[in-house]
Amino acid sequence: FKIPQVENEPMRSYAPGSPERKRLEDAITKMKSELPFDVPCVINGQEIRTNATGKQPMPSCHADHLCTYHKADEATVKRAIRDACAAQKEWEDMPWNDRAAIFLKAADLISGKYREQILAATMLGQGKNAWQAEIDAAAELCDFLRFGVKYVEDLYAQQPPKNAPNTWNRVEYRALEGFTLAISPFNFTAIGGNLAATPALVGNVVIWKPSPAATYSNYLIHKVFLEAGLPPSVIQFVPGDPEVVVQEALKDREFAALHFTGSTAIFRMLWKQIGEGVGEGRYRSYPRIVGETGGKNFHFVHRSADIKNAVQQAVRGAFEYQGQKCSALSRLYVPASIWPQFKEQLLAETAKIKVGPSEKWDNFMGPVIGKPGFDKIMGYIAKAKEEGGEVLCGGSGDDSKGYFIQPTIIQTKDPKSVTMREEIFGPVITAYVYNDDEIEKTFELINTTTDYALTGAIFAQDRSALIKASNALRHAAGNVYYNEKCTGAVVGQQPFGGSRASGTNDKAGSMSIFSRFVSARSIKESF
Ligand code: SER
Repeated sequence: FKIPQVENEPMRSYAPGSPERKRLEDAITKMKSELPFDVPCVINGQEIRTNATGKQPMPSCHADHLCTYHKADEATVKRAIRDACAAQKEWEDMPWNDRAAIFLKAADLISGKYREQILAATMLGQGKNAWQAEIDAAAELCDFLRFGVKYVEDLYAQQPPKNAPNTWNRVEYRALEGFTLAISPFNFTAIGGNLAATPALVGNVVIWKPSPAATYSNYLIHKVFLEAGLPPSVIQFVPGDPEVVVQEALKDREFAALHFTGSTAIFRMLWKQIGEGVGEGRYRSYPRIVGETGGKNFHFVHRSADIKNAVQQAVRGAFEYQGQKCSALSRLYVPASIWPQFKEQLLAETAKIKVGPSEKWDNFMGPVIGKPGFDKIMGYIAKAKEEGGEVLCGGSGDDSKGYFIQPTIIQTKDPKSVTMREEIFGPVITAYVYNDDEIEKTFELINTTTDYALTGAIFAQDRSALIKASNALRHAAGNVYYNEKCTGAVVGQQPFGGSRASGTNDKAGSMSIFSRFVSARSIKESF
């Protein structure tokens, strides 16, 4: 069999007055009238309710919360692991076409029947506006699943190039022995679905711990997987405290892989713990560790840049979804010769941005995810001021009703100031104006000011300047864009991931990541 041709999910524009806008509005109204939802752990397809619960707030509105979720206790995590591992053989033995069909069906359910519901959960729970939710929970998630099937098919088709006479060599791409622990973040519903689905596609079983701040949308995705025919123990939905869920999983002999997106600090801590486990011979195999962590992403603007474009891309790259993308623009380097014009346009564009509840159509920016994020971002703005940074616009926040922060642009004279170095994860650009004759020095700064290397963009109309910058910044970003913002990688078009402190660069949305979740067996048959 050949799998069907896969295409990127067409994105909806939600034009005023359109039926698709009306359907989404109705879904939001319905969801608001029904909340708070009650979200169980889902183990072997059964809903487990425990005594310990947590709340997923609504970042736009303190008065309500989206769901109450039941936190897995130790016994629940142990059972989830044991039963997943017991189900592994049957899952791995299932013909590839049938495994593929389940995820293709899941993509169709997300694209159609459940689109509005999943978008509404992403908007209300994670504070995305409709278009940001569409990019994520509809388009990117469907693309991860459909292109995932294509990449696995391509991986399985990779075979040794030679056979000696009377022999037939082949490679079998086995699942890993044991389970994968998927730990997903709040900022993309699609990443949650993908962290769980990627290992499962190649025959693994998965313990999925969602971010508390994305519990409800992730629960809906898990429900879709089950409705699409996923055997119930293959992906266990295990919300809860990391001290319980993650620690139980890392203690287990059957722990085979970590599939992680989140902060660098947590990833380093988990790696250390896994390393200790390996040192003690705790695990059956050496666990695979796949992680995508932080970023401190740059736009380098050359004096030959199209200023209008570079300004618009900076605004979108930094402020869409309130800068809460690991790929978001954070460091902006502009030459002195064009800075006056650039600055004027940048401030004018930023002044057009409306900030407020994400489900209101006019609001380009919604809330940041919660109190710790709000305090951290405001703290960085305060530190930048203390260090002598000039706040050109924004700088203020209001957490009386929700966690709203105005789009903020700081100009610094110190290219190594704190907001040029550390990840903020909020709507803050720090701009550094470089001397036109110090381009090499600026490349050096971009390369060395932070440990991160996730995304970056270069703006230049002069081709030789563009290539020079690209070569100088070869290792400063895993995804680089020429004359476009540093966010918005599309599955099937730009495989995504960074190196250095930004992750293992196994490239989500590519064939290479699937090779991390298989353990190949070489077979030689003699005739
Ligand atoms: N893939 C997203 C982007 O490129 C970030 O996770 O913006």
